[in-house]
This record gives sequence, C-alpha cells and structure tokens, in this order.
Amino acid sequence: MRAVRVVRVSGIGHSFVRDPRIDIVIGPDSAPALTHPGTPLKRLRRPGAHFRHPATFDTQGAGVRGVPPSVRRRQDGRVPEPQPALVLRRPAPADEAQVRGAARELAAEGFDFAPLLDDLAWPDWLATMADREAGLHLPEGIVPETFVLATLDGVVVGRGSVRHRLTPALERLGGHVGYAVRPGHRRRGYATVILRGCLDLAAAAGVHAALVTCADTNTASARTIERAGGVLRDVLVDSDGRATRRYDVPTARA
Ligand SMILES: CC(C)(COP(=O)(O)OP(=O)(O)OC[C@H]1O[C@@H](n2cnc3c(N)ncnc32)[C@H](O)[C@@H]1OP(=O)(O)O)[C@@H](O)C(=O)NCCC(=O)NCCS
Repeated sequence: MRAVRVVRVSGIGHSFVRDPRIDIVIGPDSAPALTHPGTPLKRLRRPGAHFRHPATFDTQGAGVRGVPPSVRRRQDGRVPEPQPALVLRRPAPADEAQVRGAARELAAEGFDFAPLLDDLAWPDWLATMADREAGLHLPEGIVPETFVLATLDGVVVGRGSVRHRLTPALERLGGHVGYAVRPGHRRRGYATVILRGCLDLAAAAGVHAALVTCADTNTASARTIERAGGVLRDVLVDSDGRATRRYDVPTARA
C-alpha cells in the first residue's frame, strides 16, 4: 500500500500525491497563498529511508496520514529513529546566501539556478518569483511558474521549477519542469525526488502529461527523467547542432 493524500495548493487546485516518499503536503499550518515566500510545499522522505519525517510519523497506524504498516516498525519491532526529510518549499528571506552560493556553483556549469537573481536585489527577486507563480506582471512570452528550493535540514541542496503551461519556445527547449542539484549533493537521488515533487505540482496546475527536456549529452538528467516515467518523444537538433531530448512524463501516477 502506498500513501495517497490530497495536496491543496492554494490558487492552482488539488492533486493526489501517490509518491510514497512524500511526507508532508500543504496542510492547515502551511496553506497561505502561493505568493507567501517561505511556505513549505512538501516534505519528501529521503530516498531509501524506511520511515517518515517526525512531523508526520504516526505510531498509531495508518489513520489519515496513510502510513503503510510496513514503515511503522522495523522487523525487530523497534520504531526507527526519524531521519531528515527533503523539503520542497518556496524561497524565503533567509535563503539569500545559500541561493546565491548555489547560483555561483551552477553558473560554473552553465546552468541558471536562480533566473534573474543577478539583476535583482534579493527582496525584489523573492517578489518576482511570487508574482511569476501567481501569474502577475508577466513579461511577454513568460508563463506562470512555480519555483521551489529543495532543502535538507535547512541546507539548500537543489531547486525545481514548474511552468504551468507551454509556449512554442518551451515546447522546443525548456519544457514544463526544470531542476538542479548542487554539485556537492549529487548522486543521492535528490534530483529524482525533486522531479517527482515537481510533477505533482504540475498536476496541481492542471498539467496531465508534462514535457521534460534535457540536452542529449546530459546522461544524469535523462536518467532522472526516465526514472520518473518519461517516454522519449524525439530528439530535436537546432541550427547549431545542439540536440535536445524531449520526454513525455505523466504527472498523475497510479
Ligand atoms: C542532472 C542532475 C539534476 C542530477 O542530480 P542528482 O541528484 O545527482 O541525480 P540523482 O542522484 O537523482 O540520479 C538520477 C539518476 O541519474 C543517474 N546519474 C546521476 N548523475 C549521473 C552521472 N554523472 N552520470 C550518469 N548517471 C548519473 C543516477 O545514477 C540515477 O540513475 P539510477 O537511479 O538509474 O542510478 C544534476 O547533475 C545537475 O544538477 N546537473 C546540472 C543541472 C542540470 O543539468 N539540470 C537538468 C537540466 S535538464
């Protein structure tokens, strides 16, 4: 049995979360409007962990949280110690140093971790991200987009972003979802969890099949997409000879 709970994402509807790694979804303590920076979106169980985050660990049984009996107690009968969980949440005022650090690391690899950050003061960047999510003051050609940080014990390890719909340009190159993991935190399954969480956010925004793209040479990203159920649609080659893989990925998982 896997946990199935309703995500209530204020402003962009509801979706069902079927990923057993998702611990916390938006609830009564974290339901303010999407424009509220720092609001937790979800907590995701660390890949490979056998139990849930302390905030949701339920020793009484499945109950409303739907905790499978198999994760309540180990075989020796002892309740396991809680482990930190990966959290997907909106950026908050206190994140500036970490986000700028992550942006520098990813810039060295040619990846834009925090679009527009170089051009804006931190409070303005937070406000811009909130506006983008709410679909306010969008420049021409820019669609509503949800930007989330992935944190582990308060450390920013990566980020995800979800475009709520596609433009012709996104259809060719960017797709619905973008993600990155900081170099020092790779090969631990975090991108896999971030992408799955982003697919749930996409579903909440009404996207049933997400387009997720990566450079043909980006083996790690291609593998991440395939692990999330991505089916290769085609490989587009632009006029400079750069090849982009385009995958169709279902957002609602059975
Ligand atoms: C792509 C990226 C997000 C992967 O992050 P990650 O947290 O290391 O990925 P995961 O640990 O979840 O691994 C996902 C899969 O990719 C594989 N993988 C990860 N890094 C790999 C590498 N360097 N070479 C080959 N396979 C790799 C993993 O083995 C895993 O597959 P498996 O489960 O079959 O073993 C990260 O390398 C990154 O941020 N790169 C720069 C930004 C970027 O390219 N973003 C994607 C844009 S489309």
